[in-house]
This record gives sequence, C-alpha cells and structure tokens, in this order.
Amino acid sequence: MPTVCITGASAGLGAAIAAACAERGDDLVLVARDGIRLEALAVELRTQQVAVEVLVADLADPAQLALVSARVADVTHPVELLVNNAGFGLTNHVLDADGSEHRRALDVMCLAVLELSTAAAQAMRRRGHGRILNVASLSAWVTQGNYSAVKAWVKVFTEGLAVELAGTGVTATALCPGWVRTEFHERAGIATSSIPDWIWVDAKTCATKALADTDRGKVLSVPTLRWKLAAFGLGALPRPAVRWVSRQLVRSRD
Ligand SMILES: NC(=O)c1ccc[n+]([C@@H]2O[C@H](COP(=O)([O-])OP(=O)(O)OC[C@H]3O[C@@H](n4cnc5c(N)ncnc54)[C@H](OP(=O)(O)O)[C@@H]3O)[C@@H](O)[C@H]2O)c1
Repeated sequence: MPTVCITGASAGLGAAIAAACAERGDDLVLVARDGIRLEALAVELRTQQVAVEVLVADLADPAQLALVSARVADVTHPVELLVNNAGFGLTNHVLDADGSEHRRALDVMCLAVLELSTAAAQAMRRRGHGRILNVASLSAWVTQGNYSAVKAWVKVFTEGLAVELAGTGVTATALCPGWVRTEFHERAGIATSSIPDWIWVDAKTCATKALADTDRGKVLSVPTLRWKLAAFGLGALPRPAVRWVSRQLVRSRD
C-alpha cells in the first residue's frame, strides 16, 4: 500500500485528507503537535485495515522538524505522497509590537514546507515516482498581510518545484482553497458570523478535490467553481484594485 505523510493531521483539512486516504486504502503517517488527537484519529482509521504511524512534532522546532524530514526521506518505508498542510491563521498585524507569531508562521508554513518538500522530492526522484501536495490558499491572490505573503510563497515555491520535477515522475501540487470549515478561524480568533454560508466549502469536499487534482499531477488545485472564478477574477484585476479588495477584507476581519 502507498504511504501518505500528512502534516497538521490532527484537525480540519489534514484530518479530512487522512480519512480520504484511509478510505482508498493508503497507509498513513500522521504529524501534528497534539498526540492525543492524533492517536484517537489513528485508532479510528486503523479500522479501515490501513497502517497508521503517529509522529508528534512541532514543525516550528528545528529538531522535531528534522525527525519528520528523516521519516519522509526513509527509503525502507517510502512516502509516496507528502501533504504539507500544517498551518494557522494570523490576525495580528505586521506593525504590532510582537512579531513572534509572524516568525512562527514562516517556520511552520514556509521553512518546514521547504525542508519536507526537498526531503520528499529527492527521495521520490531517486525512485522515479511520488507526489507532493502543499496547502497554500486563495489568500495568495490578495495582499492580506503576512498570511497572504506566506501562502503566496507556498504557491510559487510549489509551482517552481513542479518545474524542477518535470519529467522525473514526481509531481508537486499547490492547493489553494478559499474558506474551508475547520478549526482554523476559531483558533486564530477570526469572526466568521458575517461570512455567508454559500462561500464555505466543507473539509471533506476540499480534501477529495485536492487528492483528485494531485493524482492527476495538476500544479494548481483550486477547489470548486466559485473559487476558480474568484482566482481568475483576482488574477485579472490591476494590482491597485487587488490592494483595495484586500483593504476591505482586512477591515471586515478587524
Ligand atoms: N480553513 C480555511 O479556510 C483555509 C483556507 C485556505 C487555506 N487553509 C490552510 O489549510 C491548512 C490546514 O488548516 P485547517 O483549516 O485545517 O486548520 P485547523 O483545523 O486549525 O488545522 C490546523 C492543523 O495544523 C496543525 N499545526 C498547527 N501548527 C503546527 C505546528 N507548529 N506543528 C505541527 N502541526 C501544526 C494543527 O495541529 P496541532 O495543533 O495538533 O499541532 C492542525 O492539525 C493550513 O495550512 C491553512 O493555512 C485553510
């Protein structure tokens, strides 16, 4: 059975991707900080006759990240699909006094993605097959502070990786969802009551579409037609208009 390694598997989109992979018979390596939640998910997923490893790690910690990286590169139990999903929202501004959350965002959502993608891509290229799915965001199309910058990095990094990997049998996909119903907003303290129901996508739908696009080797995966249209519209706007839209989004969030 192919093995899938998913970071941020204890909740939300990562847990939904884990469930979808278990349903199709993939073995799993689940990574996150909350070992109790990971173990509970592992027990549930093993009922589908798949092997599930739990790797408790804070990806902002270089030593713990190195352990995950070693597992991803392990040739004896190769990882066929790496999902770099772990992440969190940022509500504080770059101009706020404490910049530690912004540095942690870069550690978890950029440096860990760089480290794990590289470890996976090198091992997969040697084998001649494998897939990497990096979770970016539709935020990459706007300029909502450091979160947009972080997710734009993930998107462009993954597109660049796909270029480097062309012809190797290994693919890289950047998943760019809009609003997904997970713990993300509550954890970040983002009020969601004013966001209309029709804008949301549930985590299961997002996971299914992301895995289908990854299987097809698509470089950019934007789930659902409405988010594809939003990405197209934002991409066609002049940058001053994108910044105007972003200002309205930041104001409504604040
Ligand atoms: N929800 C949305 O609307 C939305 C939209 C676009 C993109 N995204 C992206 O989707 C990804 C998944 O988010 P989600 O919506 O599923 O949020 P979520 O429900 O809050 O889940 C986030 C996951 O990341 C893990 N995580 C956070 N910090 C970590 C760290 N330092 N080390 C290891 N794991 C860590 C959390 O586990 P522990 O707390 O157990 O460590 C949890 O499993 C993120 O990259 C997010 O930016 C979300």
